[in-house]
Amino acid sequence: MRLRSLVAAAVLAAALPGTAMGGDPARGAALAAERCAACHGADGRSAMPDIPSLAGQQPGFTTLQMILMREGIRRVPAMQPFVEGMPDQDIEDLAAWFASLPPGPPQDRRPRDAALLAAGEALIGPRNCAVCHLPSLAGREQMPRIAGQREEFLARTMAEYRDGRRIGADPQMNGAVAGLSDAEIAALAHYLAQRD
Ligand code: HEC
Ligand code: HEC
Repeated sequence: MRLRSLVAAAVLAAALPGTAMGGDPARGAALAAERCAACHGADGRSAMPDIPSLAGQQPGFTTLQMILMREGIRRVPAMQPFVEGMPDQDIEDLAAWFASLPPGPPQDRRPRDAALLAAGEALIGPRNCAVCHLPSLAGREQMPRIAGQREEFLARTMAEYRDGRRIGADPQMNGAVAGLSDAEIAALAHYLAQRD
């Protein structure tokens, strides 16, 4: 895990200075309609289990994750054909487009479960989630919006961070969820998915 994060840091140091966060959302819209909408939803709100919504996502996060996937550091077989060899400009344009779309929960969001909601909320403070993701959970820079994301995706991806199967540019998230039980992760995922 340490080696992979060192590799990630080196890749990003090389890639990020060239990415000026100056994406063109209109160009991104055309790319997204052609290549992304079938899975991530025409309005960026995913209707498909296990596929995350991208509407209202922080452009810095989307850009970083696309680069991590393109470079094979975040390994997502479903995404590989769509990111392979993608120019930085396309990535920035796509990130700008998705950031411009209003965020919102998926149409099939589960009904609220009061006990799960309370159990999830109780973990947010002690685990400092809002320090990085902001109290609104809308994220900033390379830290993602997690409010209103699809619940089953949130639970799966947090378990992957916990188990060292997902690693970002650095191990911050692996530390944030270290030692959580599956039940605690399920509660957190429910709480985040219910936040608007
Ligand atoms: C065949 C379906 C499919 C297509 C087409 C697709 N994706 Fe994905 N995408 C996925 C899946 C599945 C994941 C979940 C990755 C995981 O399991 O961690 C994902 C994850 C992502 C993520 C990470 C989001 C997060 O919250 O972690 C980004 C960013 C992304 N896709 C952008 C795109 C863009 C931009 C396009 C179009 C160029 C695209 N995807 C096309 C299936 C797809
Ligand atoms: C020290 C800062 C920090 C803290 C604390 C933190 N996070 Fe994160 N979080 C991040 C960063 C940075 C990423 C992106 C990491 C990457 O590149 O994979 C992230 C990613 C995520 C993702 C992936 C979302 C997606 O769409 O792919 C989820 C879910 C998440 N955090 C939830 C949480 C929860 C819940 C907590 C509290 C238990 C928490 N985070 C605490 C910094 C933090």
